[in-house]
Amino acid sequence: RNKINVAIDGPAGAGKSTIARLVSNELGYVYIDTGAMYRAVTLTAMNNGILPDQENDIVELTRGLDIELIPEENGQKVIVNGKDVTQSIRSNEINQQVSKFAGVSKLRKLLVMKQQQLASSKGVVMDGRDIATHVIPNAEVKIFLTASVEERASRRYKEMLEKSPSIAISLEQLQKDISLRDQMDLERKASPLKMAEDAIKVDSTNMTILEVVQTIKELCIKKM
Ligand code: C5P
Repeated sequence: RNKINVAIDGPAGAGKSTIARLVSNELGYVYIDTGAMYRAVTLTAMNNGILPDQENDIVELTRGLDIELIPEENGQKVIVNGKDVTQSIRSNEINQQVSKFAGVSKLRKLLVMKQQQLASSKGVVMDGRDIATHVIPNAEVKIFLTASVEERASRRYKEMLEKSPSIAISLEQLQKDISLRDQMDLERKASPLKMAEDAIKVDSTNMTILEVVQTIKELCIKKM
C-alpha cells in the first residue's frame, strides 16, 4: 500500500488529538500535534515576558526552540529545549493565551515550515486548525472533526475531573473559554480555522471514539 498523509482539523475540544493518535497507531503512522507546538511557543514566550505583539522577539525565541513530540502509550511527551512541558502547556493560562500567539503570521510561517518538513516523507497524521488548508493541502485524506460546543466542553470537563478532581473551573466557564477560543481561531487574519473545500466533515457529537477512529481509518485505507 502507498503511504499517505492525513490532515485532521477542527475546533478546540473536538477530540482531534485523541482521534489522530489512535488513527496513527492503527496505520503505523507518526502523529504530529501542531497545537502542542503553538502551546510550547506560548509557554516559553510567557516565561520570558514576551507579549503577542512582540513579533520579532517571538520569531527569535522560536528559532532557538527545539520542540520534541515523543509518543507515549496514552499520549505524548512534549519536550522543549530538554525540559518536559507536557503538563504546563495545558494550563488554563496557556489555553487563554495560545490563540493570541497563534495569530502572529511570522510565527505561523516558521512552524508551518517545520510541519511541512515532518510531513515530507508521508506517513503522518497531523492535527491542528490549518493543516488541510495550508500545511499539507495535498494530503490524501482531509478530515474536519467537529462536535457541539456543549459536548466539547463536557468532554474537557470530564477529562479535567479525572486528572485533578479539585479543579477550580466550572463547566460553564469551560464552555465560555472554548467558545472564545473558537471565535479567535475563526476570526483571525492569519490562517483562520476553516474547513478545506475537499475535506470530509465528521461530527462526533453522538459518536464514540471507536466509531470516529473506524470511520477515518476506512477513508484512509481507500486512499492507500
Ligand atoms: O489543538 P490545540 O487546542 O492544542 O491548539 C491550541 C491553539 O493553537 C489553538 O486554539 C489555535 O489557536 C492554535 N493552533 C493553530 N494552528 C494549528 C494548531 C493550533 O493556530 N495548526
